[in-house]
Amino acid sequence: MNSSIRVSTAAGLCLPVLFGFVFYLAAESIPAERPDSESIARGRELFNKKEGLKVKFECILCHKQDKAIKNSEVQKIGDHLPAVINKYLVEKSKGSPLPADGPEMQALMAYIRYEHSQ
Ligand code: HEC
Repeated sequence: MNSSIRVSTAAGLCLPVLFGFVFYLAAESIPAERPDSESIARGRELFNKKEGLKVKFECILCHKQDKAIKNSEVQKIGDHLPAVINKYLVEKSKGSPLPADGPEMQALMAYIRYEHSQ
């Protein structure tokens, strides 16, 4: 067996393993159900405008460009996301907390998880 065949054989064995691993990581980090696009759009509106959440300072005021919420942070926060959103909603935006299972919180989470974060 010459060396180029040996290299391609090694690549042939490694690539499927590598792809399997990447898909495993992707599956781990994406919650099973993607929210519908209406929910994401509603969340975008709530995030970008004062009126929907009845706040003094809209989220986008602080979270734009390099201050956008990072995907790695969202992953770390995991299931605590409603509590963290409420914390900033109250402390920074000067609004009132939302019920965690209500449609507005669900929409904000959908937007932050699937569109805003980077
Ligand atoms: C006055 C500025 C300001 C406003 C308004 C604001 N935030 Fe933040 N937010 C921050 C700061 C500062 C942090 C901490 C970021 C850091 O530590 O780098 C933060 C952190 C967060 C985090 C944790 C993830 C992270 O990046 O640390 C989330 C989630 C979040 N904000 C969501 C919101 C939402 C939703 C709103 C609107 C309801 C909002 N924030 C409004 C300033 C603000």
